[in-house]
Amino acid sequence: MSTTPTSAGDLALPITDPGLERRLKVQLARVEELLARHASSRSTFVTEAARHLLEAGGKRFRPLLVLLAAEAGPNPDAEEVRTAACVVELTHLASLYHDDVMDEALVRRGADSANVRWDNHVAILTGDFLFARSSELTAELGRDAVRIQSKTFAQLVEGQILEGIDPEPGVDPVDHHLEVVAGKTGALIATSALYGARFAGASPEIERALTAYGDIVGTAFQLSDDILDIASETGESGKTPGTDLREGVPTLPVLLAKRSTDPADARLLELLESDLATDDAAHAECLALLRAHPAMDEARRYVVGRAHQAKDLLTALPAGPVRDALEAFADVVAVRTS
Ligand code: FPP
Ligand code: MG
Repeated sequence: MSTTPTSAGDLALPITDPGLERRLKVQLARVEELLARHASSRSTFVTEAARHLLEAGGKRFRPLLVLLAAEAGPNPDAEEVRTAACVVELTHLASLYHDDVMDEALVRRGADSANVRWDNHVAILTGDFLFARSSELTAELGRDAVRIQSKTFAQLVEGQILEGIDPEPGVDPVDHHLEVVAGKTGALIATSALYGARFAGASPEIERALTAYGDIVGTAFQLSDDILDIASETGESGKTPGTDLREGVPTLPVLLAKRSTDPADARLLELLESDLATDDAAHAECLALLRAHPAMDEARRYVVGRAHQAKDLLTALPAGPVRDALEAFADVVAVRTS
């Protein structure tokens, strides 16, 4: 199990332009200070719980996207840009505390999840605390930001609720799943791009393009994460592989495999219908069959296709290092190894 997820000093993104890389690192370090400051309480215990996952690592994809999108505007150094970067990471962090309780996850960012380190009560309330901090900070960004943040939060929660229920009659399970993913992950990543563009003063056209880009990249990010949950054998993701399967959470490769009418898939389909939460042997067999199934490549192709769509939207930006970095961001997200 990897215990060294990306540190804040490294960018989880290949940037070829040294000037842009330097600017992003300086900005991200300032965001990191803000995060530590806002994830703190007058209570030592609450501060420890709130900083637990923050200090465990993480790729800081969302703040990085805020900072990168801001580079498409005339004022990338605006204080509001860093505040917005802090807001999206705190919101994300809050959701992880809750998510790990719901998933009964043991490991997050290579560390014990908060529910394991303490208990479900502490994990849920710490998520609430971080979300409150994020909301307080959003108020500094003005009324529109509060409205955007509220809408985003609702989408996040709706996506998470929809994940646990069956599609409505007549709705294809894959389409239902894509709606879930767009809500629970796409929405906050779209908002990250929107905040960056807006608070750096980018034009409405660029703001629209980057928001649409963020929405697609965010969806691809989650789909890629789900593929990794199946494909990863070593826990390089900083999480326990096979968790979705064990918890019966539907993901794209599983839903695509379930479409199969090939008799050779009978055993896999039977296992997918069984309770994999308690039977370790069945879980291991199912994971092995799924890893070797063509649905994995089909899912990977779908994600790469989405990344291409996202990159096409970037033609609204002038060619140059910022556009190149946003293209690289879409590529990194589509083909994740951690
Ligand atoms: C990770 O999904 C979960 C999310 C992206 C969103 C979860 C949203 C909530 C729990 C709503 C509550 C939110 C707040 C802000 C208090 P996953 O389990 O597929 O990903 P994982 O592999 O990283 O666990
Ligand atoms: Mg989870």
